[in-house]
Amino acid sequence: MSPHSTFAERREFLQRSATAGALALVSPAFLPAALNLPAQVRIGLIGCGSVSGIYLPHLAKTPHVQVVSLCDIKPERAEKRGQEFNVSARYPNIEQMLAGEPFDLLVNLTNMQEHGKLNRAALLADRHVWSEKPLANSYAEGKALLELAGKRERRLWGAPAVVNSPQFAEMARILRDGQLGRVAAAHAHYGHTGPLWSAFFYEELGGSLPDLGVYNLATLTGLLGPAKSVMAMTSIITAQRTVDDKGTIDVQAEDNAMVLMEHNNGTLSHVQCGFNYFDPFGHEGEGQERPTISVWGSHGAMHLIGYDWAPQAVELSTIAHPVPKRLVTDAQSYVWEQGAAVVSRSLLSNEEPTISVQHALHVLEVIEAARQSQKTGQRVALESTFTWPMV
Ligand SMILES: NC(=O)c1ccc[n+]([C@@H]2O[C@H](COP(=O)([O-])OP(=O)(O)OC[C@H]3O[C@@H](n4cnc5c(N)ncnc54)[C@H](O)[C@@H]3O)[C@@H](O)[C@H]2O)c1
Repeated sequence: MSPHSTFAERREFLQRSATAGALALVSPAFLPAALNLPAQVRIGLIGCGSVSGIYLPHLAKTPHVQVVSLCDIKPERAEKRGQEFNVSARYPNIEQMLAGEPFDLLVNLTNMQEHGKLNRAALLADRHVWSEKPLANSYAEGKALLELAGKRERRLWGAPAVVNSPQFAEMARILRDGQLGRVAAAHAHYGHTGPLWSAFFYEELGGSLPDLGVYNLATLTGLLGPAKSVMAMTSIITAQRTVDDKGTIDVQAEDNAMVLMEHNNGTLSHVQCGFNYFDPFGHEGEGQERPTISVWGSHGAMHLIGYDWAPQAVELSTIAHPVPKRLVTDAQSYVWEQGAAVVSRSLLSNEEPTISVQHALHVLEVIEAARQSQKTGQRVALESTFTWPMV
């Protein structure tokens, strides 16, 4: 096997070798170690800006991945990350990256507006893709990417990874066990005063919905099931911003949003997000002890303490136990930046992760529908769905 073989070739080789020998009975999850063959997913990471400073340290301590290639259209950023994390293959554009050092999974951390086209280029070059949110710039583009991934027999996944937290799992279990009775309503909120480093957050196809609301939309649809319809209002509160890369700019995308979702059985939920929320806990949310997600039913209520991307506990009260109980006060190994590592594990073991691309696509449709609802004043019906319950 050549060191330049594709991930699929390496995997196929692992599986062929296993069936041929006595190791045929070993679970595929343990094959690489058992055969002393490459056990790592090779990662090419594109977009060496702010969030790469959180992804790269996490990937560097994840034994089943190796970051082998870096790319940024601001080449000095790829150089800097390359030196910091000892990655020698560095490229100034995706074309050179795809033609250069071989890798299995593209981790896309670029400006939101770039995601659709870069994810498409990677799939066309037979790479798997983990994309920061959103995974595409429209619902139609997302569907086309998923279809392309199917045709190329590659996998595509999109952030956020909130459904991986043990607090999400606990809330899903509480709902599944009927502890809240008939579930009526849910609320979620997330906001801060807005990023200062890049203009794209405020430009067309940016906005607080795909950057911030996306977490809460993933959590509430993950807990309550796919939304059937959406009504929303959005606005711009701060008309101009001064950002590091472009100076003072006009804000084009919403920086303030309220979204109502209709789920099955009459359950209604609400997400609010924005770039104008003073938060004493700042961008990092350190020390946030208040609930940001609440679900109410006829027999009980539960709240997520902290943010869904940095959860601290679940608080539950029911008719049987009205005094609030704190559950799952430890997020264990969950961190919001773990998505690429989690899907890499799944590529190696062939086990499906909780994160699903259909769920990410559904959330993208909700965001698009919210914008449509703002434009038309109408309620917008949704077509997408995903496998639910998720836990
Ligand atoms: N910064 C955070 O705390 C954070 C947290 C979670 C998720 N995210 C998400 O991560 C993504 C990136 O955010 P960020 O804050 O790191 O932005 P950023 O502006 O700091 O970094 C983006 C980088 O992508 C590069 N880039 C843009 N287009 C490119 C292209 N076509 N090819 C190669 N490189 C390209 C830019 O030069 C820049 O260095 C966004 O989707 C954002 O929503 C950010």
